[in-house]
Amino acid sequence: MRDKVKEGYEKGDYKGDYRENRRLRSEEKELFQKLFTQIKGEKILDLGCGMGIPFDKYLTEQKYRLTGVDIAGKHIHEAKKNVPNAEFIQGEFFEMDFSENSFDAIVSFYAIFHIPREEHSKLLEKMRYWVKEDGAILITLGADVEMDGLKGEIGGEEMVWSAYAPEENKKLVKEAGFEILDAYTENWREEKHFWILAKPMR
Ligand SMILES: C[S@@+](CC[C@H](N)C(=O)[O-])C[C@H]1O[C@@H](n2cnc3c(N)ncnc32)[C@H](O)[C@@H]1O
Repeated sequence: MRDKVKEGYEKGDYKGDYRENRRLRSEEKELFQKLFTQIKGEKILDLGCGMGIPFDKYLTEQKYRLTGVDIAGKHIHEAKKNVPNAEFIQGEFFEMDFSENSFDAIVSFYAIFHIPREEHSKLLEKMRYWVKEDGAILITLGADVEMDGLKGEIGGEEMVWSAYAPEENKKLVKEAGFEILDAYTENWREEKHFWILAKPMR
């Protein structure tokens, strides 16, 4: 699945299809504001950062120190140009070797559904390990329908998705050691996404 996803983003035109002139929506800005009130420090990790627009650019403009991770070299190359004052690492989520409590916040948008859904809980556990006790996460997971190896197309190239429906997602987030603070279902174009804001359980 990862090879297919990487190839699709390396060859496809994600920017043209999704990121040209993409601005933050009001619901997203509200969630970011809520995230900011939950965290004390400035270090944010973005898993599956893509080209860094619009989210990483926005976060650095809000004076956060951003580290972005993405499997696609093309996206990392673009991200470095779009957000020069952030750090970007090309690699797979599970190859990352950050220490415990490394980040004040972890964000991940439209990316976790590109790894097999059986691995989502393992990634959430990694996030719990990497995020500080007094930090928070803001992520998108599957919404509405269950997708298990769903095939489609992005930017003119084949793509594959794997995700659970919202109730299962909430359960996984809680089981990984988080308390859910807010959730929002985005419904835009032909897609739905489930946004979750959560903080480590005390
Ligand atoms: C739909 S794009 C979203 C990019 C960015 N978050 C945004 O909103 O513009 C998904 C991104 O996740 C990256 N990605 C998918 N699976 C990954 C994995 N296993 N490890 C690291 N990056 C991954 C892809 O290369 C792609 O850039």
